[in-house]
Amino acid sequence: MTDYATINDNDIKYFIGIIGQAYVSSDIEVRQAYGHDETEDLVFAPEVVLKPGNTSEVASIMKHCNEKRIPVTPIGARTGLSGGALSLMGGVGLSMERFNKILLIDEENLQVHVEPGVITQVLQEEVQKLGLYYPPDPSSRGSCFIGGNLAENAGGPHAVKYGVTKDFVLNLEVVTATGEVINTGANTLKNSTGYNLTQLMVGSEGTLGIITKAVLKLIPKPSMDLLMLVPFESAEKACEAVAAIFRAGIVPSALEFMERDAIDWTLRFVTDVQLPVEANVQAHLLIEVDGNHMEAMMADCEKISQVVSEFGAGEILFADDETQKNQLWKLRRRVGEAVKSNSVYKEEDTVVPRFTLPMLLKGVKDIGAKYGFKSVCYGHAGDGNLHVNIIKGDLTEEQWNHTLRDAIGEIFSLCVKLNGTLSGEHGIGYVQKEYMGLVFNTTELALMKGIKEVFDPNSILNPGKIFPSNEKLMKFSEAKML
Ligand code: LAC
Ligand code: ZN
Repeated sequence: MTDYATINDNDIKYFIGIIGQAYVSSDIEVRQAYGHDETEDLVFAPEVVLKPGNTSEVASIMKHCNEKRIPVTPIGARTGLSGGALSLMGGVGLSMERFNKILLIDEENLQVHVEPGVITQVLQEEVQKLGLYYPPDPSSRGSCFIGGNLAENAGGPHAVKYGVTKDFVLNLEVVTATGEVINTGANTLKNSTGYNLTQLMVGSEGTLGIITKAVLKLIPKPSMDLLMLVPFESAEKACEAVAAIFRAGIVPSALEFMERDAIDWTLRFVTDVQLPVEANVQAHLLIEVDGNHMEAMMADCEKISQVVSEFGAGEILFADDETQKNQLWKLRRRVGEAVKSNSVYKEEDTVVPRFTLPMLLKGVKDIGAKYGFKSVCYGHAGDGNLHVNIIKGDLTEEQWNHTLRDAIGEIFSLCVKLNGTLSGEHGIGYVQKEYMGLVFNTTELALMKGIKEVFDPNSILNPGKIFPSNEKLMKFSEAKML
């Protein structure tokens, strides 16, 4: 275990000298506010919050912290769901919020140069004005930062057709733990030149470096989309229909799953959306098709209707206009918030190969019945990515903090058995790290640790994340046997 320094007056003086008094805060309320994201009700406050304004300031901060062994936790918009932005060991909370500029929209090359503190939706809207499209769109896109999306390799509903954040990253400017400034790649669509440091950074959850600039790929924005909401009497049947849609030769631009509770809870939460749901409906698929040719899109919808009918779909609602589409999307995007407004919950971001999604859903419900917890499930069915929200409800602290650990271990073991893994798009961060031994053996974990040591020899960057504190707790081989 690394010994970290506590921040003292000299450190504070140094930080003020580098970035100015206005951007250094040791105020307890500020520290608390920057000590949480959207993960459960967890708060780990940094000792000081710093808001640097440019790359060289970040470099100076990192040099100092590396010399003094001060932990540094990069902080974006604090919308994360795996505790990646929590300052577990105190130290510096490095807020990137002043890095909020879109530097260049390169229309010739369909690229955008962007700082990490730009809000994802702001970026999307700016490029859309030019007919361009940046598809990764986590539900928090109205507030999350591109930097956080890069750190967690965020996805969202449109990943099923277009890919996740990693698929749109060409090049990154990064400040290393020791305060050097590097570029990870080139501004090219193809790159077969040395190790792929760009992709190593993406999804590394702020443990390998501080991203200060990103060059992202854009694509032309499809001009039209059609949206349909498909009800099912059986949630498992809804999940079974998912793989069949792709087998029928269609790649929808979104294919989302919501079980009954997800819809009901969200309808109560988002009061300006009305949607009559028949009593016997247990789940919905929200399916979007996009493109530039209406006839082809209609034909795809026709085919989808045929496929889902084979799985017992009820009457399909085709969204008539933009207002109705927006309402349905609002319903889908706000499920997480709606669940949170009801109860503290633990979120497991499970992901399996698409065809095994029904088995995962059934398994989660069986494990819930065995351990006595309620779960609300929804997510990106087309990607086999099921968000399992385990509701605290009336569970005792003992059940919540201890018994559930085994239950979650069983859920993840099931994912492994189905050839899936722990997280599809939210990251491992703090809350899933003890389960890493279920998916990686000691050799694999040692390779990852070796990479961490090369990038961050004093282990000051976002310490306490990703790697299990007790590798024996959940063993890879046990998961395979279950
Ligand atoms: C969603 C977030 C929670 O899919 O990933 O709504
Ligand atoms: Zn999601």
